[in-house]
This record gives sequence, structure tokens and C-alpha cells, in this order.
Amino acid sequence: MNCPDFKPPDTEEIVETHISRVYLAPKFAYKQKKPVNLGFVDYTTLEKRIFYAKKELSLNRRACSGIYLDLAELRQKKGRLFIGFKGGALKDVFVRMRRVDSDRFLSNILKSAEAGSANTEDILNISNILKKTAKKIYLFHKNARTSKRISKFGGEDIYRANWDDNYKTLETFQTPHLDYSAFLSSPLFSEFIRLRAQGGFIRDVHGDLRMEHIAVLDPRRVNGICLMDCVEFDERYRCQDIYLDVAFLLMDFEFNGCFYESVLFFGYYKNCFNYLKSIAPFEKYEPSVMPFFKAYRAVVRCKISLLSPGEDAPAKASKYFNLADFYLKLAQKRVIILNCGLSGSGKSSLSGLLSRWFYARVISTDEIRQNLYGSAAKSVKYSADANIAVYRTMLEEGLKESCGSIIFDATFLKRSHREKIIGSFYKKDCIFIFVYSKIYKEKEEIILKRLSDRFNGGGGYGLKDYSEADASVYFNQKNYFEEPSENELASFAPAARTGIFAQIDAALELKDRFNGLIKTVIAQKI
Ligand SMILES: Nc1ncnc2c1ncn2[C@@H]1O[C@H](COP(=O)(O)OP(=O)(O)O)[C@@H](O)[C@H]1O
Ligand SMILES: [Mg+2]
Repeated sequence: MNCPDFKPPDTEEIVETHISRVYLAPKFAYKQKKPVNLGFVDYTTLEKRIFYAKKELSLNRRACSGIYLDLAELRQKKGRLFIGFKGGALKDVFVRMRRVDSDRFLSNILKSAEAGSANTEDILNISNILKKTAKKIYLFHKNARTSKRISKFGGEDIYRANWDDNYKTLETFQTPHLDYSAFLSSPLFSEFIRLRAQGGFIRDVHGDLRMEHIAVLDPRRVNGICLMDCVEFDERYRCQDIYLDVAFLLMDFEFNGCFYESVLFFGYYKNCFNYLKSIAPFEKYEPSVMPFFKAYRAVVRCKISLLSPGEDAPAKASKYFNLADFYLKLAQKRVIILNCGLSGSGKSSLSGLLSRWFYARVISTDEIRQNLYGSAAKSVKYSADANIAVYRTMLEEGLKESCGSIIFDATFLKRSHREKIIGSFYKKDCIFIFVYSKIYKEKEEIILKRLSDRFNGGGGYGLKDYSEADASVYFNQKNYFEEPSENELASFAPAARTGIFAQIDAALELKDRFNGLIKTVIAQKI
């Protein structure tokens, strides 16, 4: 069955998804539900379309001011279709909205920031938009309904049913295997979901929180952000853990290569809560639960891509599938990162972001050196003996950490320094990432400027900067640096171990280094 062939007045563009058709006119947008039954959604009868259109209006009004206007009725009289409230027979309904300019959707805002060479002002702008969006979502979650009945949607049976349902759709397309079942029944996850239900974190929220559903009408005000198009067709997909709701947006950022923005946004979101009451009790679960939630979201989008028409749909589906696969591995394995490069290559600011995204502890030689030698004379603090002690302490600290992820942050000037870490941590049960921030000769000026700025108030990202290196230290290091290469890791790599060597351009902005690095890591299909 097709939609009645009718264009509302002044239609200038039509947008189609797997379940809707949206007619865009200069002032209004008319959204029509396609008469489809995809199993998880059924719009085949007029009664159902009216019922869900009404739901769409009332549910979306919760988090959008002034966009969702009313229902427009499509009627037919003497063979002529028209929009009106009386006369003839009712044929269909449209959800009538105020038209949002396409450059107001968060998806397009980030895309154009990416396309232009984003200057500092743009980045501040984006960070402000992310902050306001986080606040808006926090308030929406805080005010969303919860009850004993709603809390049941956070039960293991619902997680399993939803995963199985989505996965079944994937299987019909013969995608390879995804291993999610063990995690669902793990003691850690059971404990997490019990505490979340008890704490009232399962709520009637959005269910499809992605960048293209966030309209930034006025970035100066929290209420200028609108959360559009929530799931109206099944409360099973809308009532959920608020972290699962947010995971959709995080996954959407990350699918689009915006890992930096994802880290920033999630930080802003969590900052809105009372830390001791709502954040701290769940921190020990986050490193595995958040990747697991993101994996679930990637699987949902994989399914939707497989159901959608369009040339790029199969490629998208496979990208979502790989992402889901990577997240599931992150949820179940520890990550060990060797983060090396000369002073000024931006290692520590990168470590700050990596530690937040991978939930990893940073062990840095600068900090260890400071703790061991404090204010001793530089000739002592940086002597050959001190170096030996500092690297030995780093290794010992790492070995004490029996399960969490770790980032080893050091210049690692000598190959032997690196080999100690690789030899001890490049194991079967972990993902080992060897990151080398390379300083290219032609970009050295940028690094020298960074080194001199450091002493004028610059610094790392979220980490205290313990480095004391200046330009002369940098030039000195260069003289005896044994530059890393890919085969260093390979020589330690019997089959069945997961190791990635990633070389990044140290002169790039932090955001670009971080986004580029994680993209490279995921593309390796570990
Ligand atoms: N009020 C609106 N103004 C401008 N564009 C809109 C509006 N509503 C929807 N759209 C466009 O149509 C697309 C599909 O609409 P959406 O409500 O997300 O449908 P679906 O429920 O099928 O996902 C949106 O991503 C957006 O590009
Ligand atoms: Mg939509």
C-alpha cells in the first residue's frame, strides 16, 4: 500500500525514511507515516496512523517548544484530495510542524564545522552547543516519567529480547556473528541493571536520540535546543536506562568520526548530575556497560540501514556492524596503550582524551618523576639513573593494575623502554595500541610554539601537565631518539593477539589527532 499521492501546499522538498515521508514547505513540515509493517512498527491502518500521529505530537512536545503544531487531515471529496477539517472522507493525517532550517540540525552543524577548517571560535561554538544540548537532555531525562512499571523496561529480559530481535534481522542478511549474549548474563551487568532500576534511572525517554533529531534553534538558551522525533510506536524502545538513551547519541557522534565531541558531550552530560548520588555509584560499570550500550545502538542502526532503500545503505550497514563488533570487544577486553613521542608531541593531552574514552588509567613518567624526585636538581632528576628508576616504576605501577585499561604515557626514547611494556602487556586478553605521535621536520615550528606556550598557561586536556620540557630539551631528545616503527610490535605478535600500531601527525590539533587515531584503530577490524 502506498501513501496517497498528495503534496501539501508549497511543498519544495520531500524527505523519506523507512517509515515516513516528510514534505517540507517554507514555513511548515508535514510528516506522513508510510503504511508499512516492519514487525517492530505497524502503520498499516488509518486508525493506527492517527493513533501514532497523536502520540508523536504529545510525546515530542515534551522536549521541543513550538515545533510540533497539530494534525492536518487529508480528506477526499469527489475524487479531489485536500487538507481540511471537514467535508469528504478522511484519508490520512500529517503531523504538522514548524519547518526547521536544515543547517540547524546538530548533524549538519558538525558536518559543516568539519568541512571548514574549524578555527578556535568554531570549536568554542561547538563546545557551547554540546554543553547546552547536554543540559537539555539532562533536564529531559530528569523530568521524564518513571514508575515501577517503567522500571521493568530495564530488566534483563527486555535487553535480551531487544538484542535478539534486532540480531535476528541481521542474521537474515547473513552478517557475521556478534558475541553479545555472555555479557547480557554476566554478574557485572546483572548488578548494574538491578541498581539502575532501584535508583530510578529507567525512564520514559526518547529512544532515537541522534544528531539529526536535535535542532539547535538558539544556541544561547537550553530551551533553544529541541529533541525531535522520539520513538512513538513502541514504549519498549522508548522506556529505558537514561544511559542507553544517551548511548545512541554517543554512537552517532562516533559513527560520524566525532569521538572528541562524544567525549566532550558525555562529560558535560554527567556534570549536570549530582556526582555522588547519580554518577559515582556507576563508574565501575561504565567501562564495559557504555561500550555495550553503544554496540546495541550500532546494531539498531545496522538493522535500519538494511531496511532502508538507497545506494549507500549496504556500506552503512557494514560500517555499523564493524562498529558494534568493536564496541563489544571493548566491553569485554582491557585496552593497553603505549603512548609515545618526543616532548611537545602532545602525548599528555591525547592521553587525557584517551583515558576518558577508553576508561583507562594514565601512568605517566612525568608524574612519576615528579613524585620520585620532586624538586631535586635537574641534573639528578633527569640523570641516567633517574631514567632507569622512572621507567622501572612505570612498569611496576602497570603490573599492579590487574584488570583495568592502562595508558603508558612517556617519551619512550629508547626501544628497550618500549619493549619492556610490550613484553609485559601484549597479551591475548587485551587490545594493545601502540601510538606514536610523530613530529615531521616541516612542522617542527608548530611543536616549538607549543613548547613555549606550555609555560604561558597552555596545558593538557583534563590532566595536570607535569612536563618540564622546553625547546632545548626537545632538541636534546631528538639526538638520541630511537624512532619507533610498525615492526616493533610485530616482532612480539604471535597469532591471536590484538595489536595496533598507529602513527599520528603530532602537529595536528588535539581534536583531529584524537578523532583520527580512534578512526584508525576501529578501521583495523581487530
Ligand atoms: N520540522 C521539520 N523541519 C525540517 N525538516 C524536518 C522536520 N521534521 C523532519 N524533517 C526532516 O525529515 C527527516 C525525517 O523526519 P523524522 O521525523 O526524523 O522521521 P522518522 O520518524 O521517519 O525518522 C528528518 O531527519 C529531517 O531531515
Ligand atoms: Mg527520524
